[in-house]
Amino acid sequence: MTHEARRGLTMRPLIYAANWKMNHGPAAAASFAKRFLDLTAPAPERSLWFFPPAVSLAVVSQAMRSRPDVLVGAQNVHWEAKGAFTGEVSIPMVHEAGAGVVLVGHSERRHLFGETDEQVARKAAAVLRAGLKPLVCLGETLAERESGRTEHVILRQLEPLLEKVPAEEWARLVIAYEPVWAIGTGKNATPDDAAQVHELIRFTVGRRGVPGRVSILYGGSVNAGNVIALLARPELDGVLVGGASLDPDGWAELVGLGAGS
Ligand code: PGA
Repeated sequence: MTHEARRGLTMRPLIYAANWKMNHGPAAAASFAKRFLDLTAPAPERSLWFFPPAVSLAVVSQAMRSRPDVLVGAQNVHWEAKGAFTGEVSIPMVHEAGAGVVLVGHSERRHLFGETDEQVARKAAAVLRAGLKPLVCLGETLAERESGRTEHVILRQLEPLLEKVPAEEWARLVIAYEPVWAIGTGKNATPDDAAQVHELIRFTVGRRGVPGRVSILYGGSVNAGNVIALLARPELDGVLVGGASLDPDGWAELVGLGAGS
C-alpha cells in the first residue's frame, strides 16, 4: 500500500520522535533547535516529537513554539501531581514547561531504574487524565526473544495498561514497540519483525474492546539507512529514535525520509 493510500485510511501523519535521553542540556538544546528550524519546514505528512531532558524542556518548547508540526515531551514523570518525591518531576510541571506528550516506560526506565509494568500503566493513565498524550514503550529483551517469549512479554506489558486506561482513552495514547536488543546496538528489527509485533499489539487491544486503530511507532537503531524500509510497512505509524536524533543535520535529513518517499 502506498503512503498516500495508508494515510487516506488512517488520516494520521507519520510521527518522527527524537529521544535525546541524557544528552543536550539547555545551551546545546537551544543551538540544536536553532539549526534544526533553519533546516526544516512544516510538512503535512509528518509530525515531529522531541523528548529533551527535563531541564531543557522549556528551552526547546520556546524555540519550537512557531512550529505547529512540532510536539515537545518529557522523558519521564511521576504519577502524583506533587509531593515528597525527591528527584521526580510531575505532569503539571512538565506541562507548564511546554510538554504535550510524555514518554512512559522506556526500556531504560524499566531495566536500569526498575519501573514495573504496573507503574508504567499508572503513569500512562495519569498523563491521559491530565490531558497530555502518553507514548508508552513496550518490548522484549534478547533472551526473551530467543526463548520464544516475545508474545508473552508484550501481552504481560499490555495487561496493566488495558486495566488502567479506559477503552475510549486509547485514541490519545501512542505505543512504541522497542525491542530492547535493538536499542543503541545498531541491530534494528527487520520491517517484518516490527510489523508482526505491531499487529499482535493491535489484535490484543482490539479484542479487549479498544475501538479504532491504535498508533504504534517502532524504535531501536533506526537511522537514515533503514527508516524508509521500516516506514514502508503500513503497520508502522512512525519511529522513535535515540542516537540518530542527536545531531540536528542528521535528524533533519532523517525526518525527510520515509514520509511519501
Ligand atoms: P536508538 O534508541 O535509536 O539509539 O536505538 C532508541 C530509543 O531508545 O528510544
